[in-house]
Amino acid sequence: MSVPLFDTASPLAPLRDELRDAILRVVDSGAFVLGPEVQAFEHELASFVGASEAVGVGNGTDALTIALRAMGVGPGDDVVVPSFTFYASAEAIPPTGARPVFCDVDPETFCVTPETVRAALTAKSKAVIVVHLFGNVAPVAEIEALGVPVLEDAAQALGSNGPEGRPGSIGTAATFSFFPSKNLGGFGDGGAITTSDPELADRARRLRFHGSRDKITFEEVGYNSRLDAIQAAVLRVQLPHLDRWSDGRRAAADHYRRAGLGELVSLPRASPGAEPAWHLYVVRTPEPESLAAALQAQGIGARCYYRVATHQQPAMREFAPDRQLPGTELAARTNLAIPISPVLDEEQAHEVVDAARSHLAARPLAVGTFRN
Ligand SMILES: Cc1ncc(COP(=O)(O)O)c(C=O)c1O
Repeated sequence: MSVPLFDTASPLAPLRDELRDAILRVVDSGAFVLGPEVQAFEHELASFVGASEAVGVGNGTDALTIALRAMGVGPGDDVVVPSFTFYASAEAIPPTGARPVFCDVDPETFCVTPETVRAALTAKSKAVIVVHLFGNVAPVAEIEALGVPVLEDAAQALGSNGPEGRPGSIGTAATFSFFPSKNLGGFGDGGAITTSDPELADRARRLRFHGSRDKITFEEVGYNSRLDAIQAAVLRVQLPHLDRWSDGRRAAADHYRRAGLGELVSLPRASPGAEPAWHLYVVRTPEPESLAAALQAQGIGARCYYRVATHQQPAMREFAPDRQLPGTELAARTNLAIPISPVLDEEQAHEVVDAARSHLAARPLAVGTFRN
């Protein structure tokens, strides 16, 4: 039995007719970009996360750039961002004119901490991008208490719950991606910004449409980055199922635990009080590549993420810090994502754990959980 790294098709199969009807509704309406379908989705998304406003945009990367600009970030500013994340978290900063300043992560949660952020703050820090990586929930309120506004990069954390609320409602603003493999995935690119600051939302709405409110006066240089109505319609069909799917992701993590995975590798640690909707289930092991190859040979999806951390990417060289980022380097060197989905069942979890166990039994030095 093969176990894919992601399974986006199975949860959608029972919704096939509803999805088709939603797409045809948009086709019949003739309103393809923004419009009532997007407005309805924005309303539903804002209420799902617990924010008062949502602004649909073209993708999660544009969402970050537009949100930063709506927060007032511009030339001469610094923005703190973790290095252990998808590259787009940092890539979104230079287009605002600001400079990314890389901070470290806790390799057990894969998220930034108040200490790692504090170490990267400068006199010019205008914002901190806090990434809820792999669906875990970073301590946003503690970080915002350092005195710099937080933009949550919640691209991987829609459906997670944190002690301070849902990602999307905790910081000054938050961003989401609806890339097809995400917890809530469209049938193409899409993204959104959420906030409870109406002025920030208003500026983001203007920026997503060329810096104009009315197509007549263009008040500032903006972007053409709008959510398509077909994506909004497809996302509206799925959103009511997201809590159940997130429960399924958490149940899959429990299946792994009960099958004994924690005796073989280090399991990801949920942040205190968090209920992550694991977008990726990322364990740590001293030799992740050999375990990945062994799992793949059995038809089991496995992949090391962000092996070259963002601050070491060629395009980010000019922003690379002088300091070492030991948590980032450890996470980059030892992580391995194994299959997770809303429908991963006990039998599949056992299959993954048994395959890992038989590979690691032959390599005793590679077995084991480790603390840092
Ligand atoms: C943490 C993180 N930030 C930002 C993005 C960018 O989103 P998009 O691919 O929709 O531009 C992604 C998506 O892959 C992501 O995982």
